[in-house]
Amino acid sequence: MPRKSIARIPASTTNLGPGFDVLGLALRLYSTVELEEINSGIEILVSGIDSQIISKDVDNVAYRAANVVFEKTCYQPRGLRLRIENGIPAIRGLGGSGTAILGGLLTANALCGDPFSRDQLLNFATALEGHPDNVAASLLGGLVVSLTLDGRVHTVKLDCHPNLSVAIAIPDFQMPTERARGVLPDTVKFCDAVHNVSSSSLLVAAFATGNLELLPFAMRDRLHQPYRKSLIPGFDDVAEAAMRAGALGIALSGAGPSVAAYCIKEEQNIANQMNQAFAMHGVSCNVKILSIDSTGATVDIGE
Ligand code: HSE
Repeated sequence: MPRKSIARIPASTTNLGPGFDVLGLALRLYSTVELEEINSGIEILVSGIDSQIISKDVDNVAYRAANVVFEKTCYQPRGLRLRIENGIPAIRGLGGSGTAILGGLLTANALCGDPFSRDQLLNFATALEGHPDNVAASLLGGLVVSLTLDGRVHTVKLDCHPNLSVAIAIPDFQMPTERARGVLPDTVKFCDAVHNVSSSSLLVAAFATGNLELLPFAMRDRLHQPYRKSLIPGFDDVAEAAMRAGALGIALSGAGPSVAAYCIKEEQNIANQMNQAFAMHGVSCNVKILSIDSTGATVDIGE
């Protein structure tokens, strides 16, 4: 059995507007998780972005996920050293917790000699995360469509247009997913449900055929953004600024607070305009222009 394994997991932006809990896109921004069996004890070491707010104790998300694999295989490591190099801003709507979950599952699975398939690991990850969109995109890469039915996740991965990139404005405040889900209504109008079914279907078809000129019509949402935007000062102005600067479409990234603009040109200008629009509302943010990760999470055996 290997003593050490290392996973590299891409960030994700999910929902893409209308595809609430269904669509996820992997981005070229990565965290790495390394798990090593040691003679005794538990060491959890975290470095990189937002490392001060990531637990170094046994409630660490990656550590807990690793233990799911150990429990299912009845393998008891003598001791464990977990190292996380975090490259993804935490609690900002970029799938950071999903990458931690996958990092723990993938590295523990490798240490146990790969007893579980990627499909099984995706099901474990979804059970831990509560919804499949982030973990499916980070695991598989590209644009991933997910459905959870009777406790099983079904996915299709689509490769993306090679020129597509995402300009992300990442505000300097955090938005826990529970808080952003807490403002959603229990029921929605039938016409709003129909609107989202048609938009997200058209959006998937646009990605599948490379017809990105459909994005301005296909990325509109009526299920979650109208409610969540009350938590994001300036959301409408940021969206309008991005579209005016040439974005094909905009969406709240996951549960927010980050805002994602989909572009094939003018990326830097779009990012700057979003930054300025947030600043007008007193929100300082970081902007990143990210291309699409088409590979998904990788795992290697260490020395
Ligand atoms: N689909 C999820 C949501 C992503 O919008 O709540 C957040 O993790």
